[in-house]
Amino acid sequence: MFLQAIPLGGGGFVGSNLAYHLSDTGDYSVRVVDVHDDKLRLKMANNPIDFVDLDIRSDRDALDDLVRQADVVVNLAAHVHPSAFLIRPLEVVETNLFASLETVASCIRNRKFLLHFSTSEVYGKTGGSEEPFREDETDCILGPIGNHRWIYSCAKQMLDRIIHAHGLAGELDYAIVRPFNFVGPLMDGLVPRWTREDNPRVLANFMSALIYDRPLELVNGGRSRRCFTFIDDGVDALELIIRNRDRVNRQIFNIGNPGNETTIADLARLMVRLYRAHCDPKASGEIRTVSGDSFYGPGYEDCDRRLPDISKIQGLGWAPRHDLEETFRRCVIYFHRNRAHLESMLKDATSPSRALPPSGDSDERTMRPTAASGRHGSPNS
Ligand SMILES: NC(=O)c1ccc[n+]([C@@H]2O[C@H](COP(=O)([O-])OP(=O)(O)OC[C@H]3O[C@@H](n4cnc5c(N)ncnc54)[C@H](O)[C@@H]3O)[C@@H](O)[C@H]2O)c1
Repeated sequence: MFLQAIPLGGGGFVGSNLAYHLSDTGDYSVRVVDVHDDKLRLKMANNPIDFVDLDIRSDRDALDDLVRQADVVVNLAAHVHPSAFLIRPLEVVETNLFASLETVASCIRNRKFLLHFSTSEVYGKTGGSEEPFREDETDCILGPIGNHRWIYSCAKQMLDRIIHAHGLAGELDYAIVRPFNFVGPLMDGLVPRWTREDNPRVLANFMSALIYDRPLELVNGGRSRRCFTFIDDGVDALELIIRNRDRVNRQIFNIGNPGNETTIADLARLMVRLYRAHCDPKASGEIRTVSGDSFYGPGYEDCDRRLPDISKIQGLGWAPRHDLEETFRRCVIYFHRNRAHLESMLKDATSPSRALPPSGDSDERTMRPTAASGRHGSPNS
C-alpha cells in the first residue's frame, strides 16, 4: 500500500502530528495544505515536506486539483479556539462549514475518501445525563442562539449531517472522527501577555500562566469535566481509520481517553505539581476563579462534561496508552523546554504568519526548524 494523503489544515496541531506519523510509516506520501507551516516545519524538521500554501476558501480549482491527485483527503481546516467562537463567529462558520462544503463537493466529484474532523463539541451539553457520548445514539444538545459560543458546535454538526446525507445517497465514502480534547506538543503557542484575542486552549493557557508567573484562571470555578487524550494516541487512531477505510466507511468515531477524565480545577492543580517537580520548584502556582463573561466576553457557555464511549474505535484494535499524569508530564516538560519556539508560534489561524527564530533550544529531534523543509506547488503563493 502506498497512498497519497492530503491533510487540509494539516499545518496545525493535529495535522502536523498526523503528517509526521503518516510519513514515518513509509506507507504514505503526504501533501500538506494550509495557510501556515510553522508548526509543520518544527515537527518535520528533518523530513522533506510537500507543503501547499493554500487558503481553502480562496481557490476552488486549486483545491479540486489537489483532491484529484489524492487517495485520502483529511479535512482538518477550521477555527478551533473558543475565543474565536466568541469574537469572530461568522469566520468560524465561513471556514468550518462553508469552505468545508467545497472540500466535500470536491471529494464527491473526484470520488475520493474523506476523513473529516468533527468534534466532541457536537454533542453539546449532557442535559444531566451521566451516560458517555455515543456516536450513533446520543442527542446533540446546544444552548440558545444568544450564547453564540455554540456556533462552532453547530457548524460542525451541520457538516456531519450533510456528509452523512451524501453517504446515504451513495455518493461519498467517508469516516467522521470526533476528537475529545487532544493535547500535546505543538498544540498552541505561549502567550506572554494574555488578551481575549490572544487566548489559547487550556493547555497553553495554564502553561503560559506558569511560565510567566500569572495565576492560573479557572473559568466559573473549573468544574467542567474533560477527558484529555495524548496526541500520539489520537494519531494512532487516525492512522488505523485510514488503514481500515473500507471497513469504517460511512461511520462516525469518537477518539478519546475516558480514563483521563478530570475537572479543569484538578487539571490546574496537576499542572502546578508537575511544573514544580520538573521545571521550577519555586513556581507560585496561584490558582484563581474568573467568570466566563470576563474571560471570554458575552455569549459564553460551556459543556459540563464530555465523556466518550470509545467502543467503536476499540473495535478496530485501538486503546489509548497515555494516562493523565504521563500526558501532562510530557506536555509540561515540552512547553518548558521549548519556550523560545512556542513564544513565537502562530496563535490563531487568522493571524499573519510569523518568522521562526533562527535556532532552537530543544533537546527533541522534531523541534529544530530548518530551511530544508520546502514549499512545493503552491497555487497561490
Ligand atoms: N485538538 C483537538 O483536541 C480537537 C478536538 C476536536 C476537534 N478538533 C478538530 O480537529 C481539527 C484540527 O484541530 P487542531 O487542534 O489541529 O487545530 P489547529 O488550529 O492547530 O489547526 C487547524 C489548521 O487549519 C488551518 N486553516 C484554517 N483555516 C484555513 C483555510 N481557510 N485554509 C487552509 N487552512 C486553514 C489553520 O491554519 C490551522 O493550521 C479541526 O477541524 C478541529 O475542529 C480538534
